Amino acid sequence: MNTSVSAPSAPTLPHPLRSITGDEIVRVRATLAAAGHVVDSTRFAYVGLDEPHKREVLAGTVTDRIARVLLLDVASGASLDARVSLVSDSVLSAVAIDGSAGQIAILDEEFAAIDGILAASDEWVAALATRGIDPSSVALAPLSAGNYGFDDEQGKRIMRVLAFVQDYPEDHCWAHPVDGLCAYVDLIARRVHKLVDEKIYPVPAESGNFDDPAVVGPPLEGLKPISITQPDGPSFTVEGGELRWANWSVKLGFDTREGLVLHQLAFNDAGVERPIVYRASVSEMVVPYADPSPVRFWQNYFDTGEYLFGRYANSLEHGCDCVGDITYLDVTIADEFGNPRTIPRAVCIHEEDFGTLWKHNDLYTGSNEVRRQRRIVISFFTTVGNYDYGFYWYLYLDGTIECEAKLTGVVFTSAYPEDGSDFASELAPGLGAPYHQHLFNVRLDMTVDGTANAVDEVDVVRLPMGLGNEYGNAFTGRATRLATESEGGRVADTSVGRAWHIVNTEKRNRMGGDVGYVLIPSPAPTLLAAPESVIAQRAAYATKHLWVTQYAQNELYAAGDHVNQNPGGDGLPAYAAADRSIDGEDIVLWHTFGPTHLPRLEDWPIMPVDYARFTLKPSGFFDRNPALNVPPAVADHCAH
Ligand code: NI
Repeated sequence: MNTSVSAPSAPTLPHPLRSITGDEIVRVRATLAAAGHVVDSTRFAYVGLDEPHKREVLAGTVTDRIARVLLLDVASGASLDARVSLVSDSVLSAVAIDGSAGQIAILDEEFAAIDGILAASDEWVAALATRGIDPSSVALAPLSAGNYGFDDEQGKRIMRVLAFVQDYPEDHCWAHPVDGLCAYVDLIARRVHKLVDEKIYPVPAESGNFDDPAVVGPPLEGLKPISITQPDGPSFTVEGGELRWANWSVKLGFDTREGLVLHQLAFNDAGVERPIVYRASVSEMVVPYADPSPVRFWQNYFDTGEYLFGRYANSLEHGCDCVGDITYLDVTIADEFGNPRTIPRAVCIHEEDFGTLWKHNDLYTGSNEVRRQRRIVISFFTTVGNYDYGFYWYLYLDGTIECEAKLTGVVFTSAYPEDGSDFASELAPGLGAPYHQHLFNVRLDMTVDGTANAVDEVDVVRLPMGLGNEYGNAFTGRATRLATESEGGRVADTSVGRAWHIVNTEKRNRMGGDVGYVLIPSPAPTLLAAPESVIAQRAAYATKHLWVTQYAQNELYAAGDHVNQNPGGDGLPAYAAADRSIDGEDIVLWHTFGPTHLPRLEDWPIMPVDYARFTLKPSGFFDRNPALNVPPAVADHCAH
């Protein structure tokens, strides 16, 4: 540092929530290198913005800009959690991570090393030979190991590897699982740590090549093109990372771990910018499998915490992934050597017509009015191994916010036992697809008209017949305020229409009621694994549909910070253990949603998109229908 030059008293900082840029990644690396934290075997598992405290952002008092960096030494396994100031170009902290409490995420370099490690294992080659399989025709699926308390794995970086036969380079290997065999690999020692060779199963032979015309058959005929055109261009703007459309505004960010992040989502209500959500992102997702087989009991992937799924964002193709008048955003993340890597067209933004917004044909006045709904779509798609996940945020003219996950790709496969299975579907002769769940958790840092928020759980209640309900038709809504974090773990219940109203405790609407937004779940089963299982400790977040916590700057991830090989207990159970007040506080909602998947024949050989979603609807937030002033559709357009 050059002390002869006085530091500027008021450095010009970018918006405090702007994602880390490529230039900043270069500076972060240089700062860490100058401080002696980077050697040849150092890899950058994660570089991202360490967001300032929300209070400072809202007050405009942020004075530093900090990057968080997770470093792994691939030679020793030592890992470091560092914070680097981008104002002073200095290392603020560098803390060693205790690997037995959770390892940092798996590197691409480690995935890539698995082929060589297994090829060098006589035991592995022999196990394949026993099955009559040439190692050169095998594709490997290295997977996160979990933490089952095995003594010989303590403190080691472990992956578990399953094998598939790939007959030629274009052959989709998921059709040909080599079942009954699993290698546990020590990533630092770079050797097979243990081989589980349970049983020999026939390798299913039928092709799953959904891109081979010989498998697909003749193309469906008669589908004429659909073109979506907006002759005057789209109705939104994106400037400096801020999207504006109709009455909405939102700042867009992107993170290696969480993917797309929405910041400071607000609605302009007759000239007043009213905040609703301060920050929204996928904080975690887990895919736990139901098959207790000795080679697969450990299968459960935390695609966010273990694999950092943001880095696998697809570059979207115009006319294929998104149609219409599209704006794409490129995003920049760090590669494993700490250099910037740009993913072109990672985020897609476009407008969609969404049918009828409101309509009435009045019998008495002859008035016949109809308005069309439209929405803006902000999305990205990420591929994690066999599955492809899209995350779509929709903002509607009437103030509705929706989050939708799209699930497609190829189901994970096994051999299907001749005597049947209680834990898998048979999708092709001898080919099984184990039952599993996809449990997403979206962290919703709410700011409904300000930071003094609370949650009312609202159920509808059937009332008994009797005095005051003589004819038995009465039912009512019953609101229960969630007071502290220990009351904030909730399970949805469709039988009572359960929904969670996020209300501002200091503001009233024109009728004196709560100003709020209601979280409407689309409930599916919570985590189905046994409560005392390891996965239930590690994915405790998924045992509830809703958690509510008081805002804390460093509480970002539903299953905790270092999820890979984490023994359990981190994340939401640890956050909520403080039992802080959530009534009239700055609060965060954590919503778990997603399907329980018993694969269907129709899911093979590639899954049509399955959907999982939730909705945030204004409830008393506006004083009346906020979409009254939407103009009617242009008549000559409708006449075409
Ligand atoms: Ni599935």
